[in-house]
Amino acid sequence: MKKRVAVLISGRGSNMAALLDAKQDAYEVVLVISNRPDAAGLERARAAGVEAIAIDHKKYGKDREAFEREIDAALRASNIEIVALAGFMRVLTPFFVRAWQGRLVNIHPSLLPKYPGTDTHARVLAAGDAEHGCSVHLVADEVDAGEILGQARLTILPGDTPETLAARVLELEHALYPRCLAALARVV
Ligand code: GRF
Repeated sequence: MKKRVAVLISGRGSNMAALLDAKQDAYEVVLVISNRPDAAGLERARAAGVEAIAIDHKKYGKDREAFEREIDAALRASNIEIVALAGFMRVLTPFFVRAWQGRLVNIHPSLLPKYPGTDTHARVLAAGDAEHGCSVHLVADEVDAGEILGQARLTILPGDTPETLAARVLELEHALYPRCLAALARVV
C-alpha cells in the first residue's frame, strides 16, 4: 500500500510538483495545504487532480498552535501518514512537531548542519565554500535540525551568484526529495 502523503506549501510549490510528478510506488500525494490562499502551488496541485486547500494562518493571529490544530485535523481527516514540508514558511510549534515526529520531513537549500535558516545561497558564497547543496531531514523542535535523510551537492563555480546557485540547487532538490520521501515511506 502506498503511504498517504500531504505536502505543506506557502508559494510556487515546485518541490510539491516534483513530489507529485515522481510517481513513486512507495507514496502518493493525496493532499496539499497552503497557509497562503494565493499560493500558486494550490492551482498546480488541483490541475494534477490532487485535493488542495488553504488554511490561512492570519485567521489565528499569534495563536500558532490553533492554526496547527486546524492543519492537524485536516491531515487526520484525510488519513495522512507522512507530512512533507516544501517551502512552507511557518515555523512549527512543538505541538505539531511532536504529533508527527518521525513522519514529518522538510527540504532545506543547504548542506545541513551548515546554514540553517534563510539566505543560504548568499551565505555560502560569502563564506567562500567550495560546495553547496540541499538536505532532506526529519523535523525536530529546532529549525532545520533533525536527522538528515539525504543530501545532494554541487561544486560552486567562479561567477556563481545567489540566483545561479538557487536555480542549480532547486534542480537537485527536485530529484532528491522524491527519492528520500520514498525511502522514508518504505520504513514508517
Ligand atoms: C526551496 O528552495 C526549499 O528548499 C525551500 O523553499 C524553496 C521552496 O520552493 N525550503 P518551492 O515552493 O518548492 O518551489
